[in-house]
Amino acid sequence: MPGTYHIPTTNLIEPGCIKKTGEWTKILGGEKALIVSSPDEYGKKLGKMVEEILSVDGIKSCLYAGAGSNPTDEMVMMGSEEFNNNNCDIIIAIGGGSAIDCAKGIALVARSGKNINEFEGVNKSQNNVPPLIAINTTSGTGSEVSSFTVISDSLTGRKMTIVDWRITPTVSINDAELALSMPKSLTAATGMDAFSHAIEAIVADNSTPITDALSFEAIQLINEWLPVAFEDGQNLKARTEMCHGAFLAGIAFNNSGLGLVHALSHPVTSMYGFPHGVINSLLLPAVIKFNMICSISKYSRVAAAMKVAIPWHTDHENAQKVIPAVIKLIKKLNLPDGLKDLGVKADDIPALSKAANEEIVGRSNPRKANIIMINQIYNDAMYIPKI
Ligand SMILES: [Fe+2]
Repeated sequence: MPGTYHIPTTNLIEPGCIKKTGEWTKILGGEKALIVSSPDEYGKKLGKMVEEILSVDGIKSCLYAGAGSNPTDEMVMMGSEEFNNNNCDIIIAIGGGSAIDCAKGIALVARSGKNINEFEGVNKSQNNVPPLIAINTTSGTGSEVSSFTVISDSLTGRKMTIVDWRITPTVSINDAELALSMPKSLTAATGMDAFSHAIEAIVADNSTPITDALSFEAIQLINEWLPVAFEDGQNLKARTEMCHGAFLAGIAFNNSGLGLVHALSHPVTSMYGFPHGVINSLLLPAVIKFNMICSISKYSRVAAAMKVAIPWHTDHENAQKVIPAVIKLIKKLNLPDGLKDLGVKADDIPALSKAANEEIVGRSNPRKANIIMINQIYNDAMYIPKI
């Protein structure tokens, strides 16, 4: 709803701030935490780290290392059982978007007695959602600041988008030291997810001067620092600026909405399992081209944020510089040359278009698209234009 802004109450962004998790758990009245992480060794290691930090402040906890990538309804329901069986009163997620999204699902169902499927849509929760602390490790999804969660139906693979202001984490934690070990491919994928959030937020139907300010600063930061973090993962300054950029982009899209990049991206992930941020990157040029006709002045400002605008050129001329600048960024990150290069088959486009047409995240796109237009955008995105 434009004019109403949801963000976490408290946001910690600085190297080493994970050590304040216990302090904030206490402030929120938490006595026993359910820690949610991914099931791999790294996820368990992160979970153990949080357990130790909490124990310093005398807070009990149990680890649910069951939040796999693209979390499912089954993972959420099992996590909810863990929360209740262990008499937990607060949830702490640590990881990327999958761990945090799963934790949000657990928060929704834990005290409701309902199945997660019943929360699909907008604001279906009651006033019984436990507090959630989200510790983000990937600088990309924005899940640590948003009221969105995407949960896959384990039977059909369909992604359910749930938007509920009550699952906006109470505290978000972005500690750049946690991002230092991210491999190049993950740095590129999550960073471009954040970049696509800012680009979509800026032209979305519900954008306002507040979300625009956040988006433009995010675009500037990510365009400058993502290639640096990609080339030198140990660069703490670059990792910190990416925390800032992804955080700003997350708050922007949480309040203005997304658009066709995400609407077209979700079905590709469901069908093929490719990384969300990589698919977004390859869709960006085609979606910007589609939206250009109704967002000239906004894209002209995007060109300025990406430092390719020329002051004496018209808005129309500067707006045309955005697509080449985005492609240049994609090339710096060694991403594929289009959806075809990624492995998407042309024969699947009709089914993908049908699914994308039903995605609620596409409803805030500035230019409305029918299924034929969506089909055309997928076809355009098969090959990134040469620049
Ligand atoms: Fe995203």
